[in-house]
Amino acid sequence: MRMRSPKNKTEILDTCEFYLDENMFLNDNPIYLEIGIGKGDFILNMALSYPNINFIGVEKQTSVAVVAIKKINNYKPKNLKILISDVKEFPSFLLNKIDLIYLNFSDPWPKKGHAKRRLTHENFLKIYDLLFKKKKHIILKTDNADFYQFSKKSLLDYGYAIINESLDLHNSNIRSLPTEYERKFSSLGYKIKYIEVEKKP
Ligand SMILES: C[S@@+](CC[C@H](N)C(=O)[O-])C[C@H]1O[C@@H](n2cnc3c(N)ncnc32)[C@H](O)[C@@H]1O
Repeated sequence: MRMRSPKNKTEILDTCEFYLDENMFLNDNPIYLEIGIGKGDFILNMALSYPNINFIGVEKQTSVAVVAIKKINNYKPKNLKILISDVKEFPSFLLNKIDLIYLNFSDPWPKKGHAKRRLTHENFLKIYDLLFKKKKHIILKTDNADFYQFSKKSLLDYGYAIINESLDLHNSNIRSLPTEYERKFSSLGYKIKYIEVEKKP
């Protein structure tokens, strides 16, 4: 996702009140993490819809995160924090804190030689092990059939079990708030694939 930053980018970043820090949240509610929030629609709407759950949005591209921050600034939900970072470099205070990870329309990295960059590659699943509190629980959505098949195999090979799955989310009984990419690819006629998996400790 490449984009031009808003003109007042520095001001938006400097005055952001909801960066994640070691204080995290002032309650013991479950913490759900989205990796690669893009422009932030999903994580913001989730935070507004589920006030008794804490949400963390991780985004490695500052120019993309700033768009999300601008949007979140209009609502400032207390249960949402943003971390601008590659998930590989997560801060140590996040160790064993996460209940659920969302992977929404992660970059598919279609070239075989780039498989290690996919967020569902075994190397990333090992990183998620460090983040999860007890049970490991992942929900993934994508428009990309090859990435979907790769991810499903990777997750199952790693010991995850499927709780829910659909190859056509919008014509299923699964309810999930849409992301920007989801709206875009769905409007172009792509079927959205969804898989929810878990792994007991
Ligand atoms: C294709 S976009 C999807 C954005 C959004 N989830 C959606 O569905 O509209 C993927 C996003 O993931 C971010 N991303 C990719 N790898 C990441 C990583 N290792 N850590 C944090 N963010 C990452 C990218 O910068 C990009 O903004």
